[in-house]
Amino acid sequence: MKLGVCYYPEHWPQERWPVDASLMRQAGLSLVRIADFAWAVMEPREGEFTWDWLDQAIEVLAAEGLWIVLCTPTASPPPWLCRAYPDILPVDAQGRRRRYGSRRHYCPNSPTYRQHTQRIVTAMASRYGNHPAVLGWQVDNEFGCHDTARCYCEACASSFRAWLKAKYGTMAALNDAWGSIFWSQVYNDWSEIEPPNLTVAEPNPSHVLDYFRFSSDSYLAYQQLQISILRSQISEAQTITTNFMSQFSDLDYYDLAAPLDFVSTSSYPTGHAESRSSLYMPSAVQPVFAYDVGDPYLTSLGHALMRGFKLQRPFWIMEQQCGNVNWAAYNTGIRPGTVRLWTWHALASGAEAVIYFRWRAGLFAQEQFHSGLLHHDASLAVGYTDLQAMQAERSLMAEIALAPHQAQVALLLDYDSLWAIRLQPHHRDFEFMRHLFVYYRALQRLGLPADIVSVDADLSSYKLVIAPTAFLATEQLAGSLKAYAEAGGTLLFGVRAGFKTMDNQVTGQPLPGHFRSLTGLTVWDWHSLPQGVSYDLSSTIPGLNGPATLWAEALAPDSPASSSSDPKPQVLAHYTSGPFNTYAALVEQQRKAGRAFYLGWYPDDAQAEALLAHLASQAGLQSLAALPDGLVAFKRGAHLILLNFTDTPLQATAQGRSILVGPRDVIVV
Ligand code: GAL
Ligand code: ZN
Repeated sequence: MKLGVCYYPEHWPQERWPVDASLMRQAGLSLVRIADFAWAVMEPREGEFTWDWLDQAIEVLAAEGLWIVLCTPTASPPPWLCRAYPDILPVDAQGRRRRYGSRRHYCPNSPTYRQHTQRIVTAMASRYGNHPAVLGWQVDNEFGCHDTARCYCEACASSFRAWLKAKYGTMAALNDAWGSIFWSQVYNDWSEIEPPNLTVAEPNPSHVLDYFRFSSDSYLAYQQLQISILRSQISEAQTITTNFMSQFSDLDYYDLAAPLDFVSTSSYPTGHAESRSSLYMPSAVQPVFAYDVGDPYLTSLGHALMRGFKLQRPFWIMEQQCGNVNWAAYNTGIRPGTVRLWTWHALASGAEAVIYFRWRAGLFAQEQFHSGLLHHDASLAVGYTDLQAMQAERSLMAEIALAPHQAQVALLLDYDSLWAIRLQPHHRDFEFMRHLFVYYRALQRLGLPADIVSVDADLSSYKLVIAPTAFLATEQLAGSLKAYAEAGGTLLFGVRAGFKTMDNQVTGQPLPGHFRSLTGLTVWDWHSLPQGVSYDLSSTIPGLNGPATLWAEALAPDSPASSSSDPKPQVLAHYTSGPFNTYAALVEQQRKAGRAFYLGWYPDDAQAEALLAHLASQAGLQSLAALPDGLVAFKRGAHLILLNFTDTPLQATAQGRSILVGPRDVIVV
């Protein structure tokens, strides 16, 4: 388990560097991430490079035995570059060319910006690509942050046309895929196609989905530009990653992760718990475990996503909160013990390294209210004293970091479905990730660790697979899920499965479309339910009661084909009031050695727990522990790790005995 810190030597007098480096080593840190926004000091004027300060900073840090993670500085082009080449600046959805003066002000498709990127990355790689203290590279930083995942400039418009031409080949194919006959939008020529912003009424959802895919591919290509330069120049010992964002979904992280050596991420638990992007239903009373530790289930979700973006390699936390942030609603401070708890949480979730953001609180500019391991005046802050307290357990951490994270449940995530739901939610509160979180959280409450994987992942090692919103479906996906079930797997579909084609058009087949024969049912109709409206249910599964809210589908079990050896589908829940009251609400269909379930409504937390407890026992899954709210459990190798995020001691029952975990404490069994 490696620990490290984000450092900005260019913000501090050079005399201070050796003092900082020595304090870093004394805290048990071994990694230092630098240079992520340092273009203006590396190249103060075009073609004029100043490396002395960076050479010197690396030398001072290396002299204390610290390893360097070197970032390319492209997340923030300096003013001289923006002035000389204003075409590098992005255009937002409102059609405004954005100004420099903060960061992320560039277009990934700008040929000019790509040239300058090439220059700065080549210069850095040739200088530090064989440096013995440089462990690896971070490309850029947080692609898409501050709502920049999609640019609407002229360079993007023309790249989009080329992207469409490569995808569709002919205008006829594009017009078919988009259904552009609707509202008289038939295109005769590629040059007529614009980015889908600034339209009077809503733009065509097939057009927008393609723009989202194209935008994700644009960052993928931009990332690849940097990776290719680095790979051709750096030594084989140096690794390459980029820094993702927890809970961000504007870019396809499975695609971006593929060419990286490993995935890394930012993690700001209190910021995320406070921020409006909460994944709880707006109507739910959001639990507060302790106002200043964040929500363990949300933080776990962020970690699980990162683990799943590249299952073969442990992920890193490239930026771990270590005090208050400056961008949330209240920016609460944190108490002693919290950084230790967050570090253990990352480790338990499968991380291999945790790098704290940032070393010392800054005295100037935008993030002066953001904390560091040191206070503004360089005195030791709670994050630093936590590191001192963690010294005694570092060898245990190192041992656990070598053991694989274990999960027997997988949840499927695909960005096509996520984006398509976002474009046409059909219910104000229906959001892909929020729906996934209901299932994820229930699994964690039940002590069942879960991976979140792409629809292309190999599912054979999982006993239970959940497809919360398999909205866009292909025959191929239906085939692989069928094979999974027939081989003995337990498969659960949530609502809105199989509704659409990959073109973001509705299937003309009875629902759930491609999944119909697998699930053994037909969705006869579906209702979007406003707050306050619900349909009663009755189920044979213990604890699975209470009404259906938000979204309900009327399910009718199909009669199996006479050639099929599978038994008739079983109705496990049905509606007892409302317009669907003669219909099924949960159906189970045996498929050779396994089974497929279809849940016809959007479950609340308690319903999801009752259902998943039942499916887990059917699938022969062992819970890690019986857990009260706020206590979470993970397994790495033979180690059971229990983390208490509340302010009271909590009891878990695991391996036949009860284990008491103190407030904000960690216990490894
Ligand atoms: C991250 C970013 C850092 C810093 C940090 C503050 O998103 O990568 O540069 O801004 O947030 O929380
Ligand atoms: Zn652009």
